[in-house]
Amino acid sequence: MVDLSVNIGSLKLRNPTILASGILGVTSSQLLRVYNAGAGGVVTKSFTKNPLKGYDTPIIVGFKCGYLNAVGLANPGIESLEEIIKPLIKRGIPTIVSLAGSDESEFKYLAKKAYDTGATAIELNLSCPHVKKKGLEIGSDPELVRSILRALRNEIDIPIFVKLGISDNMLKVSEIAEQEEADAIVLINTVRGMVIDVWTRKPILSNKIGGVSGCAIHPIAVRAVYEVYKTVNIPIIGVGGVEDWKSAVELILAGATAVQVGSAIAYKGLEIFKEISNGIENYLKQNGFRSVSEIIGLAHK
Ligand SMILES: Cc1cc2nc3c(=O)[nH]c(=O)nc-3n(C[C@H](O)[C@H](O)[C@H](O)COP(=O)(O)O)c2cc1C
Repeated sequence: MVDLSVNIGSLKLRNPTILASGILGVTSSQLLRVYNAGAGGVVTKSFTKNPLKGYDTPIIVGFKCGYLNAVGLANPGIESLEEIIKPLIKRGIPTIVSLAGSDESEFKYLAKKAYDTGATAIELNLSCPHVKKKGLEIGSDPELVRSILRALRNEIDIPIFVKLGISDNMLKVSEIAEQEEADAIVLINTVRGMVIDVWTRKPILSNKIGGVSGCAIHPIAVRAVYEVYKTVNIPIIGVGGVEDWKSAVELILAGATAVQVGSAIAYKGLEIFKEISNGIENYLKQNGFRSVSEIIGLAHK
């Protein structure tokens, strides 16, 4: 028997696969289906203080190596959180609530709401690449990240994950997350990109610029996890182009304790969670390992 369970701070997952934020994460029935399909845990869509309508369509476009999206953080607002996550909390499902804010006081408000609603953990979205003053602009400002984490630390008593994207300050901000006692770093969010329609000769997305996800960003995620693993000693959750057990194992060997799955659900369905867990289990057995923990960061040896 091999042990697929992993621990991230006080959070225990039955296996290392987690639903990524923004993918099927705004209704309880979707989140329950994902967990019942085999995910170890789920992350909600990022919630903001007030409801956000998001950008006009088109908000997502596929291309040959993945997707480009600029949804604009559309969400029903934090007041809707209770209704959405209560059915999961009642069943003891690891439910990570993603939050998007602009400053310390907004994050404090959001985090307290999530905590009071029973969230198992929170994930601070400091990396959305296409919404101004929320996301990447915040996550690439080391001192702002420090003050946000300080503001939260004494307010809530559940694990805090910091989701970062690709920026010149990624390593510096990771160090600050560790110093300020974040429980894990989540890497990476989508990477800024653009797709142009050659017939209309215009960018396809209404926002023009969006975030690239899927297999195009997988090697970028592997590199980010590898470098951050060398820099800090807190758990890392790898995200970006996970579409089978192999891409998941790659992130774990780079240093991830768990992986999140997003875009690949669009073409593989929810079965992907079982497929990845079974594949990791076979890989561990075939190579003489007894647990996922034994292979975390092995690419550094
Ligand atoms: C349509 C869409 C919406 C997303 N919304 C969010 C979000 O609300 N918050 C967040 O932190 N990440 C969001 N993401 C980013 C994903 O959580 C993930 O970091 C990224 O897509 C890379 O993983 P993937 O290649 O498996 O999709 C979104 C991604 C997509 C494709």
